[in-house]
Parts: sequence; structure tokens; C-alpha cells
Amino acid sequence: MNLIELIKENARKNKQRILLPESYEERTLKAADFVLGDGTADVILIGSKDEIGAHAKKLGLRNIDKATLVDPEHYEKLEAYANMMVELRKSKGLTKDEALKLLRNPLYFATVMIKYGDADGEVAGADNATGDVLRPAFQYVKTLPGISVVSGAFLMFLKDKQYGDNGLMVFADCAVHPNPTDKELAEIAVATAKTTRAIAKIEPRLAMLSFSTKGSACHELVDKVVSATKIAKEMNPSLNIDGELQADAAIVESVGLKKAPGSPIAGKANVLIFPNLECGNIAYKLVQRLGHAEAIGPVLQGMAAPINDLSRGCSVNDIVDLIAITANQAIDTK
Ligand code: ACO
Repeated sequence: MNLIELIKENARKNKQRILLPESYEERTLKAADFVLGDGTADVILIGSKDEIGAHAKKLGLRNIDKATLVDPEHYEKLEAYANMMVELRKSKGLTKDEALKLLRNPLYFATVMIKYGDADGEVAGADNATGDVLRPAFQYVKTLPGISVVSGAFLMFLKDKQYGDNGLMVFADCAVHPNPTDKELAEIAVATAKTTRAIAKIEPRLAMLSFSTKGSACHELVDKVVSATKIAKEMNPSLNIDGELQADAAIVESVGLKKAPGSPIAGKANVLIFPNLECGNIAYKLVQRLGHAEAIGPVLQGMAAPINDLSRGCSVNDIVDLIAITANQAIDTK
């Protein structure tokens, strides 16, 4: 069974309530229909029942009536949701009227529903920009205890099976946080180890990447990675992590032995933590394009409940896969 099938199988065994707030969007509705038929998740759609029903009929979808439909206009918990928002954003001075207005936006409604405990996760972004999906999540769902930054990991399926675990590696942060501090970089490492276990289903061996290996160069950027490695070990002493390592020392055994003798990770890493978003985003795209790797993600991590952002060019299949991944994260968070 391939990894995505394994992820779907796991989701079916312990069904989670996944919100798809872009409920009138064609690919999203088709994905919802497939998932409802397949039993991967319980789907919650947000909007007018008549309008969702009309779209589903036009598209010839047969399973949409198995979804839970929530119409914010007539929802009995609207007041309670608004009150919770006012409480959560007290320091920002949010008023109840402003909260009620925000709740008309399905992306806000979805995150508040998750925070209230009425849903387990969300997939959106087929129709909205990344910032618009993430901002409500940052503000209302917030981060896991001990984590202050959300980041994005990619599962990289490499053609060359000698790297990672039979060609599977995890890269982060490739999607969210432009310039992490040492503490934030440590949090990204800890969150990526969790994603690696929950989604890639492999035991993480993390390399903290730099342009230096074990003091070969002196620079404040190297110091940041050394410090982040130390903090990550303090946060989670059982973490199998080492740094600072150059990329070749991290993944090529002969280079690792030469540049970082005695390192438990050098030459064997299956998780690469990049020092900032520029490196991570550029690296995953180069490996994908020049190395012909399959890249699945970004899997957003560090959030108190899983919320994942689609590319606006996504296919129905991408949405189906991301719903299953989100369900697995929700199972892991519980
Ligand atoms: N983790 C947790 N919370 C965060 C994070 C984060 N990484 N970033 C911002 N926040 C919080 C802030 O603390 C703030 O909270 P508050 O309102 O309670 O004070 C709130 O979110 C809004 O903060 P802003 O700084 O206003 O965030 P903004 O909306 O401007 O930016 C965004 C957030 C959109 C994620 C920004 O960091 C960004 O653009 N990142 C890069 C995304 C990107 O372009 N990635 C590359 C492409 S993706 C790809 O190639 C797959």
C-alpha cells in the first residue's frame, strides 16, 4: 500500500470532522463528494443549503447529502461564536458587531467552529490566497502548546531511493515563516518531527542545515542554526537531531563521515530543516523540478488543530489527499 493509501486507510478507521469552507467551489464540492463516498472523513460544508444543493445537482454529485451543512445565517451558535471571538481578541479590541461581521466570511467561521470544538480540521485555498486562509487560523485556532510559529513541511518522494527512507524525505519550513529566530527554528524542527511521524509514517532523523558543518565557517547565520539545534534538544531531549550540517554532510554518508565524524545524523538524515523560508522554498522547488521528485504539501504544522492551505491551481485529487492528511493530523493532535 502506498503512503497516501495508508493515510486514507488510517483516516477511515477514525473519522474526523473536516471543514471545507469554500463550499460552492466546484473542485472542493467534487472532492467532498468523493470523500463522503469513500468514508475518509465526515465533511462539513458552510453556506446556504439551497445553494450547495443546487451546485451539487448541477455537478451530478450523489453523496453531498451525507455532509453536515452549516448555514451561518441561521446557525444557533452564532452568538456564542461571536462572544468567544470577542474574548479571544480582547487585547485587540474586537467588538461583537465586528465579530458577527467576520463570521459572515466562511474562512473565519470555519476557524471559530474548530476553536469551539465543533470540527477537527479544515482544508481551504482552492479559491483564496494563502494569507486569507492562514490569518483567521493564526488568530483563532492559534498554535500548539510550546510552539509559537506555524510552518509548512513537504513530503519529498525522490527518484533516488538511497536518500532518506527509501527515497522519502521531509523538508521544512518551505511555506510559511520567512525569517525565524533560533527559538522559532527549534520549534519548526520539533513540529516537523511530529509531522514526519504522523504523516510520512517514518522515524525522524533531523539535520539542521547551514552553509557550515560543525564549525567549518564562522558567521552569525551559522550561530543561529547551532543555537536552534541546542534549543530543539532542550525542548525534546529524545529528538534525533544534529547540526549545523551542510546539505551534503547531512545526506551523503561518505561526506558526513568526513565532515562530521561521530554525528548520529550526518549522512543519514531523512528530515531537512532549512535556516529560513528562502532556502526551504527554493530547495523544495529545485528538488521537485530538477530532481523530478514528487512533492506533497505544504502540510501546515504547529497549529493547535490542523488547517491546510491548497494551491489555487489544485486538482480534485489534491483536495482529496489533503483532506486525508488533515484527518491524520487531527488524529495525531488528539
Ligand atoms: N505562526 C503563527 N502565527 C503567525 C505567524 C506564524 N508563522 N505569522 C503571523 N502570525 C500571527 C501574528 O502573530 C498575528 O497575530 P495577532 O493578530 O494575534 O497579533 C497574525 O498572525 C497576523 O500577523 P501578520 O504579521 O499580520 O501576518 P500576515 O497576515 O501579514 O502574514 C503570512 C502571514 C501570510 C503567512 C505571511 O507570513 C506570509 O506571507 N508568509 C509567506 C507565505 C508565502 O508566500 N509562502 C511561499 C509560497 S507557498 C509555496 O510555495 C508552497
